[in-house]
This record gives sequence, structure tokens and C-alpha cells, in this order.
Amino acid sequence: MARVRVRQHVNPLSKKYQEIISPPNWEKIYSNLQQPLHLDIGCARGRFLLKMAREQPDWNFLGLEIRDPLVEEANRIRDELGLTNLHYLFSNVNIDLDSLLSSLPLQVLQWVSIQFPDPWFKKRHAKRRTVQPELVATLAQHLPSGAHIFLQSDVEWLALEMRDRVAAHPSFRGTHPQLWLPENPLLVPTEREIATHNQGDPVYRCLFVKPD
Ligand SMILES: C[S@@+](CC[C@H](N)C(=O)[O-])C[C@H]1O[C@@H](n2cnc3c(N)ncnc32)[C@H](O)[C@@H]1O
Repeated sequence: MARVRVRQHVNPLSKKYQEIISPPNWEKIYSNLQQPLHLDIGCARGRFLLKMAREQPDWNFLGLEIRDPLVEEANRIRDELGLTNLHYLFSNVNIDLDSLLSSLPLQVLQWVSIQFPDPWFKKRHAKRRTVQPELVATLAQHLPSGAHIFLQSDVEWLALEMRDRVAAHPSFRGTHPQLWLPENPLLVPTEREIATHNQGDPVYRCLFVKPD
């Protein structure tokens, strides 16, 4: 597969990423829109979702990514493979998520994963991090009971920050409060997860559910 050359990071607070995108016509995207949906936030090249979509045809998969060239390339590969349960969308999730989730049928969104989001290490860049309290509130508003949020990172303090922000919302309950998950419940590793594993570094994971 050809790899597209793209910028390593973009600033989600910059002016060009503040416009809310219009949700697509989901009926035209998924062959069965009523299947449960797994949303992967910050999907990059989308290889994790590609594998998930092939292994689980009775689920739909949606990847949101702010670097547009990656989205175009991922959708091109999806089309080549003829997958009708997978879509990638250009989005700044900190701007678009509410409008996108409002446009989906009720109850379909069952899993959300946020995997190895950019840490933006400097304190003055903290607002660029993906898991902001507002994003957690948007997820709480749209996820149905029984839905899961899965988080992982190789940066422990970032994993803690994400975990604390989700745990602080009354809508979510951690499956292993105060503990990291011993393994990835999704079985398919992301590209960043594979690289971390190959370096012998630890991964910090947690899982939340929205109780009935
Ligand atoms: C470090 S990469 C991890 C990619 C993949 N999840 C993995 O584990 O291999 C983080 C991704 O999140 C994307 N991203 C960062 N902020 C975003 C935002 N506000 N909205 C959508 N995508 C974002 C970045 O462009 C990047 O592709």
C-alpha cells in the first residue's frame, strides 16, 4: 500500500480547523446503518479500523481524523477492498463531535476508542489534547446505556489525565477503577501500539461503560 507523506502534527486550535463539518448521509455510507457502530477518534492511517471492519462485518466502523490526506488515502483503500461497514471522515473532534453524533441513529454507537492521542507535552499546549472535559460531556450525551469508551496511551500521565476526565463524569463507570487494564480487550493493535510494543515500552489502558 502506498504511504502518503503528511505533517506529523496539526494544531487543532488553529483557525482552519474551527469550521464544523456537515455530517454525511450515513444511509449512503453503510450498507446496514442499524448495525452497532464503533467510533475511533484520531484514527490516523486507519489500519486498526481496517482490520476490525474485516474481522467484524456485523459492526460498522467510523474513524475521525484531523489530517485530511490520511482520511482520503484510508477511504481509497477501503473502496479497493469493497468494505461497506467502514468509513473515515475528516474532523476536528473537539469541534465536530456533537453535530456528527447527533446525526446518527439513536442507540447504534456502542464503542468509542481513543488510542495514543497526541500528548502535546507542554503545559501551554494542554488545550490541544483530544480528551477535554467538553468531549467527555459530548460522549455522555450521545452514548446509549451499555456503550464503552476505551482509552490507551504509552504516556502514563496522559493516560491518567484521560482516565480522570472520563471518571469525573457521572455517566461513566470504570471497569477497573484505579487500575490499568492488563490487556487490550479489542485484540487488534493500532499502529502506535505495535510500535510501542516493539520498543518494549508499557501501555496504559482503561475501559469505561455507561451503566443502565
Ligand atoms: C499519535 S496518533 C495515534 C494514531 C492511532 N490512534 C494509533 O494508535 O496508531 C494521534 C492521531 O490523532 C489525530 N488527532 C489529533 N487531534 C485530533 C482532533 N482534534 N481531531 C481528530 N483527530 C485528531 C492526529 O492527527 C493523529 O493522527
